Amino acid sequence: MAHEEDKAAGFLKSAADAAQAIAEVARRGELIHVFSHIDADGVAAAGIIGKALFRLDAKFRIQITQWIDEKIVSEVLSEKPQMIVFTDFGSGYIDFLRENLANFKAVILDHHQVVGEQPSNIIHVNPHLHGLDGAKDISGSGVAYFTAKAMDEVNVDLSPIAVVGALGDLQDKYNQRKLSGLNEKIVADAVNAGLLTVEKDLVFFGRETRPIHRTLASTTSPFIPGLSGEEDKCLAFLASVDVKPREGERWRALRDLSEDEKKRLCSGLADYLLSKGLHHEVTNLIGHVYVLNREEAWTPLRDAREFAVLLNATGRMDRASLGVAVCMGDRGSAFEEATKVLEEYRRTINRYLGWVMEKPERMRELGNIYVVHGEDFIDDKIVGAVSSILSSSLPNPEKPLIAYANVKEEGLAKISARTMDTMTARGINLGEVMQVAAARFSGKGGGHNVAAGGQVPIEDVGAFIDVVNDLVGKQLKGEKIGS
Ligand code: C5P
Ligand code: C5P
Ligand code: ZN
Repeated sequence: MAHEEDKAAGFLKSAADAAQAIAEVARRGELIHVFSHIDADGVAAAGIIGKALFRLDAKFRIQITQWIDEKIVSEVLSEKPQMIVFTDFGSGYIDFLRENLANFKAVILDHHQVVGEQPSNIIHVNPHLHGLDGAKDISGSGVAYFTAKAMDEVNVDLSPIAVVGALGDLQDKYNQRKLSGLNEKIVADAVNAGLLTVEKDLVFFGRETRPIHRTLASTTSPFIPGLSGEEDKCLAFLASVDVKPREGERWRALRDLSEDEKKRLCSGLADYLLSKGLHHEVTNLIGHVYVLNREEAWTPLRDAREFAVLLNATGRMDRASLGVAVCMGDRGSAFEEATKVLEEYRRTINRYLGWVMEKPERMRELGNIYVVHGEDFIDDKIVGAVSSILSSSLPNPEKPLIAYANVKEEGLAKISARTMDTMTARGINLGEVMQVAAARFSGKGGGHNVAAGGQVPIEDVGAFIDVVNDLVGKQLKGEKIGS
């Protein structure tokens, strides 16, 4: 569609303007401070901009945080950088930045919904400003990628990292879990450079690294009743379709199967789902898989979805610099350490999920939403991942879920909200809900329609939850809740 191409051209032009502004500061040898968001997409975005700046021989620093506030910004300003670059966040903070960074050079490379009036000292690259979809069609690392590419064509080799970031933000929302929109242009760059292969295959998570029966058992999309969560039954199922789980001593991963074995497994799973009346799930067995050709087999970097989880782990476990280093090309000590962090992250999440399930009062159902009371138990940096996972298996999947955890030192509660994609057509926009509800308690909130977050004073959590419940009800009735 010509129209879509025009929008993309406008967006790319703004990325090129940002690239030029950043490169000028870099060439003058002035200090650039890069701020990025703590999740996989944010870490990937920081890695992309970091590598581009490194190649320009720039003087720069990278800082990964969960949000931006006065304290964080004033600490940075005391180091007198000449420019601040925000990646994967910033667009929700325009008013705040206008007040706190007046007369200061700043660049925002983001894909979140825009809140506030744009001041002239900020260069702002965001798909929403061009009528493009920032929730599905391009992520923060994609915006960083197009900016880096405009700085120098060599940065095309960072395209796989932007694919990783988009998958980390769950942007594979098109038929058969495909990336589309501007993300598709990034995929094409990566494929043309020989760095990425896109395959259609069983989409089970862990195809590069996990034993097959564990892969089957741990995947929840598609959810396979009788197999999901049950490793023993998965082993028996593999035997029934004549797929050997081991090669000698070693467990096999999906990547090790021959075409025949894959076919048997796939049609066995399809028959099984059909026998349970789950016709729709059959179409979800096969999807687009994004393989980073140059990465070693058997590492979590080879499958872009696994790579994303590794980055997420480093961010959420306070070791984001490891993830950034891996994105910038480190396959030595940073990568080794990051794989350890990944294991620890998995154990932590499992512990949290077990904890939530242990007592009914830890997850309550209200009129319009579910609430997970993570309080002091769940780490505030991991509550987002926990809410993503829990929201995919709710008794009533139409009710959005919010989970919160306390950040005691700050006197704040961190809230994460999630809902199904289909709910946006019914009027739900969680980014708006979080923004409006948090503002009532002098907090801060925002994000995407299907995934959003916020923070409010701990003592207001109860009242905040009631407001969220109420606002979701209003959106379902088609009432406007924003300004
Ligand atoms: O800040 P950012 O846009 O990078 O983060 C989006 C977050 O929302 C990610 O943590 C992603 O896992 C989550 N998400 C989700 N469900 C969706 C879309 C995004 O949990 N449908
Ligand atoms: O932290 P969490 O993963 O729940 O965030 C979900 C989405 O909401 C992310 O894209 C995050 O950047 C966004 N968010 C925001 N403003 C906040 C908190 C979260 O835009 N105050
Ligand atoms: Zn993002």
